[in-house]
Formats: sequence, structure tokens, C-alpha cells
Amino acid sequence: MRTDHFILFEHVDSVEQTERGLLARLHGELLRVEPVRPDVVRLQLSRGGAFDEQPTYAVCVDPLGPDGGEGVAWQAQESDGAWKLVTDELVVTLWLDPFRVDVHRTDGSVVLESAADAEGRYWTYATLNDAWTTRRRIGRHDAIYGLGEKGGRHNRRGRDFTLWNTDVLNEHSTAEFRAGLDPDDPRADMSSTEFDPYYVSIPFFYRRDAETGAAMGSFVDNGYRGSYEFSGDDEYRVSFHGGQWTEYVFAGPSMASILERYTWLTGRASLPPIWSLGYHHCRWHAYKQQDIEVIARRYRDDEFPCDAIWLDIDYMDGYRVFTWDSERYPDPAGMLKGLANQGFRTISIVDPGVKHDPGYEVYDDGLAKDVFCRTEGGDTYIGQVWPGNTAFPDFATPEARAWWGDLNAKHVESGLAGIWNDMNEPATGEIPPERMLFDKGRASHERYHNQYALLMAMGTIEGLRAARPEARTFILSRAGFAGIQRYAANWMGDNQARWDHLWVSMPMACGFGLSGQPFVGADIGGFQGDTNPELFLRWFQMGVLTPFCRNHSETGNIDQYPWSFGPEIHELTRQAVGLRYRLMPYIYSAFVRASETGEPVQRPLVLDFQDDPQVVDVDDQYLFGRDLLVAPVTEAGMTSRSVYLPAGDWYDWYTGQLHPGGQRITVETPRERIPLFARAGAGIPMWTEVPASTDGYRPESIELHVFDPVVDGRWESLLVEDDGLTVTHDDAAGEPERLTTRVVVTRSGGEVSVEHETSGRGYAGHARTRFDVVRHAPE
Ligand code: NOJ
Repeated sequence: MRTDHFILFEHVDSVEQTERGLLARLHGELLRVEPVRPDVVRLQLSRGGAFDEQPTYAVCVDPLGPDGGEGVAWQAQESDGAWKLVTDELVVTLWLDPFRVDVHRTDGSVVLESAADAEGRYWTYATLNDAWTTRRRIGRHDAIYGLGEKGGRHNRRGRDFTLWNTDVLNEHSTAEFRAGLDPDDPRADMSSTEFDPYYVSIPFFYRRDAETGAAMGSFVDNGYRGSYEFSGDDEYRVSFHGGQWTEYVFAGPSMASILERYTWLTGRASLPPIWSLGYHHCRWHAYKQQDIEVIARRYRDDEFPCDAIWLDIDYMDGYRVFTWDSERYPDPAGMLKGLANQGFRTISIVDPGVKHDPGYEVYDDGLAKDVFCRTEGGDTYIGQVWPGNTAFPDFATPEARAWWGDLNAKHVESGLAGIWNDMNEPATGEIPPERMLFDKGRASHERYHNQYALLMAMGTIEGLRAARPEARTFILSRAGFAGIQRYAANWMGDNQARWDHLWVSMPMACGFGLSGQPFVGADIGGFQGDTNPELFLRWFQMGVLTPFCRNHSETGNIDQYPWSFGPEIHELTRQAVGLRYRLMPYIYSAFVRASETGEPVQRPLVLDFQDDPQVVDVDDQYLFGRDLLVAPVTEAGMTSRSVYLPAGDWYDWYTGQLHPGGQRITVETPRERIPLFARAGAGIPMWTEVPASTDGYRPESIELHVFDPVVDGRWESLLVEDDGLTVTHDDAAGEPERLTTRVVVTRSGGEVSVEHETSGRGYAGHARTRFDVVRHAPE
């Protein structure tokens, strides 16, 4: 964003101490500096002298309430032209003239320092016509992570990004961005791995100091179009087209603690139903009911595990949402029942666009209830999606969300298990979205654009909860904003059937994971363009080791069923999916951790090994849960690859060979597997068999695979078992309906001991009678 003409805020007129922190007056505005946690401070600047107390729907707690700022001890004092606010962990310095705000840890290390330009003017805050910007100093080799779903390398340093939810492969919605870029800029090529902006916007990032490894975090609670410019050598810039400067600054220094605090603010993923962790079959194709039934039968006949079948847009009558095409699907309820009897869940797509079609019940009802977005002149805003002219629910209002919730509740009564929200950037085709106003015409498009999918998911979930109050919900969303993890999983939209897109799904998933969204996955095999047997196989082998595991491709492509590429690929993909199902207790327990602490399931090495400079740029491998390291095959014809093993010792999952960490090794990549390592000290719980699906599967035994440590120490692992389906309730003593097994592996004086203790009141349907420890020791 060009900010040359922006007007700088240069002097502070006065500062007073309030109950909550500092309140400064400057340039006719008010600045609040308020501690939220000992290591988190909120900076907030009024607009027109007033504060917007709920800039977006991202934050779901009261940051200054009893769990936040209220309990934080702090003091403030003025000296030498600055006010200092000090907590146990950070010091905020508010300089009066020239105005600037710096944040340091109490040991003096830098969290955030305003940057000055060549004339020595500090760019702490500058504004023009609602837009605002801030510039901060950055070390030349510092790394940047986060920002949710972004293309390119995991370390975002050296690049600039826009936050504006975008239907990536739509030439109309991307034209503006491409027009502003040099044709050689990779961000201008819609199919490049660096295309920007993307479907999801999360204004949260980490800066890792290259010298100390310490990280800080910044979350700007603002839904307007944003720009994060990390291409400068010594400064970075954060700008928004409108809205208030409301920033949460996290002192870290550990990335894990920043993420824990960030997900406290914006919420954590609720525990998903276990079936959503199985393998999903999806394809955009004009299927008929009997085609779906045949595919489902084939999965079962082939003994290829599968938990869910998805219905893309062709199940609808003329793409009218909440309808069924009765010719193609003469008996939806019967089909859904039949699929359920075979252990499949069925999920249908629901786009936000409602066909402009007087006489169509949903459209008429929406109009009558006045729940559609309007233009400034009061017309119903119309965009272009699959059905042609479409109206868009005004999800910024609670009435529209409740209306949408009711429609969803009725829709799933037919037997659907979950909802897939697509085109919710919102995508408006060749009609620009800017004239779509919100909140009954009172709010600009910009204020809500990036929040549209979040608000849609809020409405959808109301319906799912109303329809089945006891059931855990499942929503998959394409777009999103900070906080989307509370309601929905995200897939990475329309990728390409190309090797570089297989690769980019790793840094993208890790970016999501570091930004609070643990439940993510890419279309396995690639969505756009024909896949090929090798790419499909390698993608499948990786996909089974990602949080959301779904095979999906575009209409018109060649078939990409597991059986489409001959018996060898069929068998190898079956083995891969079998590994996922055997690992289900481990994967499920990783999701329990994610729901409790925000810790990601798929994660970059830098999260767990932050002090190791070797991992700063590693983005062709990742950790799956805490204890498995995955190094996919990322190129055609690859027969071996280099893998960096971080600190600790690592067992090759397949050969059992033990490798000390802190080194690069070369690993063979035969067709039947991709490199996978288990951390020495880990206890990895596994099912002993591969069921057809998770449906009704009550394992009688669990194997705990313990990978013996070779140095002295103590390691903890977790196994959580519950019914996997219902919302787990706590009893009066606060005991949830589940069993929790804590595994402690200790090595002391060369002796390894394994202790495991199960606690909890259990759950109906618990069938396990065996818990077998399987030891893996160095050869
Ligand atoms: C775009 C989505 O990204 C894709 O997954 C879907 O198949 C098509 N829309 C059709 O609904």
C-alpha cells in the first residue's frame, strides 16, 4: 500500500493513568495502552475520538476481564519524556515527543520498536482518509511466520502480502491485484505458489529474532484490507485500509506461548467428530445418486477405509442452495441412510449465494425477512455465482445468521453429517463486491469482507447445534478470518495438480497451524488439471499425514479414485490410508491438545525447535503431532531425499534405524512410502487393525508404540479416548466423559521405564480391554 502522503502522529499532548493502563491524547485521538496478560499488551487508537469496542468477531473473550487484564499486575511512571508501563514480563515505553511506542521484555530485549525514516521521523502511526500504517524495525535476518493461509515459503520474510479474501482462480476477483504487479512478480500468476492474496486473512504474525531466537507476536484486530510488507531490510510495515488500530503485542519469547495466548483470545478449534479425521472422498462431478452409491460400495468392497462422501454443487436443483436436484437424486434421504448404514457420513456443499429467482422459497423468504445485503441505494446486492444472479445473506446481522442457521438445520435433517462452505470470500464472479454493504446498509463492504466466512460459519454452526445439540459439528470453509478455527476447518482451496503445489501445501498448512487453525488440508492429488499416478500416490502418502485428509478434484479432470491408476497405486494408497487409521488414537489426541491449548497438529519444525537456526527455513518437512516427523516426496522421480532431523533422536518409522538429531541425512524414498520418523521418547498410541471407517468402531485394544530414548530424560505422551461423536460433558467434579492416559517414558542411568496411567470416568461404548506396550529399541 502506498503511504507516502500519510499524515504522521508526531506529538503526545497528555497521558493519564487509568484503572486499566495508560490513556494518551494526541492529534485529537486517544491511545490506550493496556496489559492483557503479563506478556501481552493491547494498543488501541480511537478514530474521531471514539473507540470501536468490537472491531471484528475474532476475539471471543473479554481481553481485560477476569481471565485477562483484570488480574495483571502493572505499574506506570513518567520520566525523561516517556511513560513506561511495566508488567512482570514486559515494558511498554510511550515516548511523548516525537511520539512512538516501543515494547521490550523486562530483560531489555526488543519486542517491538518503531522505525524512523531518513529524516528521523518515527512512523508509529500515520493515517490518511481512514487508512493507517505503522513501521517497525526488524533485524536483517529475522524471520517472519504466520499470516495464516499464504503462498510461498513458510518464512514470510522478504515478501509483501495483502489480506483480502480472494477467490484465487477467478480472473475477475484477482484482476485488481494482478494489474498492480509487475508481470514477472510471482504473485501476479494465479497458478503460482506465491499468488497473493488468498482465501483466508489472518492478521497475526511472529517475528523471530535471528540472533537470539526469541519470538514476538502481533495480532491486529482489524478486518479491513490489510497489507504486511516484509520486503524491507530494516523495517516492516503494517497498513490497513480502514478501521481502528487495535493491536495485541505478544512478548513471547516462545512461539508456543504466543500461540497459546493468541488462541486464548481468538478461540480454539472445538474437538472434531472422530469421523472427520478419517479419509474423505470428494469430487466435483455431475454425479447421480446411483453413482455415489456405486463409489461408496466400491470403497467397501475394496476394503479401502473411508469415512465420508462429499456432494459438490451438482446435487442441487439449478445450484439453488438447500435444494436437491430430484432427477439426479430421486431419494436423498434414502441415499444418505444407505450410506450411513455402510458407515459413511455425507457432507454437502452450501455456498452463500442465493439464486435471484422470485418463486424460489429461500430467495423469497430472505427477501421477506430482509436478510440480504443491500447496496447504498437500497437494492438487494447481486453478484454472479454458479446459479447466475445471486443475493448474499448479510451475515453481519444476527437475524441473517439465525435465518441461515435454520436453513442449515433443516438441510441436515435429511441425514447430512456436515456442511461445506465454499465461495465465501465472498466470491461474486465478474461483479465487484464493493457495492455489497452490510449490517442493513450501515456498514461498508470493506469492514466485513474478510469476516464474511467467519460470520457465515457462525450462522451455520447455530443450525447444526440446533439440529443435533449433542453432536459435534463439522464445517469445512474455504475462506476465513482470525477465529475461524472456532467453527470450521479450512481446506486450501483450488490448488493445482502439480508438484510445486504439493510442496506449498506444507508451508501453507504450517502457516495456518501457527495462526490458530489446526484443522487444515489440501485437495489430495491436486484440484485443477489432471493429476498423474506418481503425483497422486505421493500426495496421498503425504495427505494421510495431514490434519484434514480429502481427495478432491475439479470437474472435467480424469478420474482420481484410489483405484483409477492400476493395482499398484491402489494397493499403495490403501497402505497409506491404513497408516492413518492405525494412527487414529495419536491423531485424535493431537486434536484434543489443539482444542485445549491451540497447539497445531501439522507444524513447522521451528515451533518445537525455535532455538535451532537450521530449522528457520525448513518447509519441505513438518511435524505431524508432537512426535512424528514427515518428509514428503516433492518431485517426480525422487528416489531419495535429504531430511533435517532436529535435536533429539529419531527412529525411521519403517526400518527402525535410529538417527541422532541435529543433522541432515539422506533417506531412500521407495514407492511404497515417504520418509517418516518417530521421536525417541515418544509413546504413540495406535489401533491394531484398520477398520472400514471409524463408524461404530470400538477398538478392543490399543498398542502403545514406545520409541526408547537413548539419552537420559523424561518424555510425556497422551492418549485421549471418548465416543468421538458427542460433545463431552463434565460431571459435577469436572470430569469429562472420557479416558485420559498419560504416558511417561523415562531413561535414567541407561534404564528405560514406561509408565502409563489412565484416569477419567470413561464413556458409553468403551470396549477396550487391552493396552499393549510395544517397544522399539535401537538395533
Ligand atoms: C470451488 C471450490 O474451491 C471447489 O473445491 C469446488 O469443487 C468448486 N468450487 C465447485 O463447487
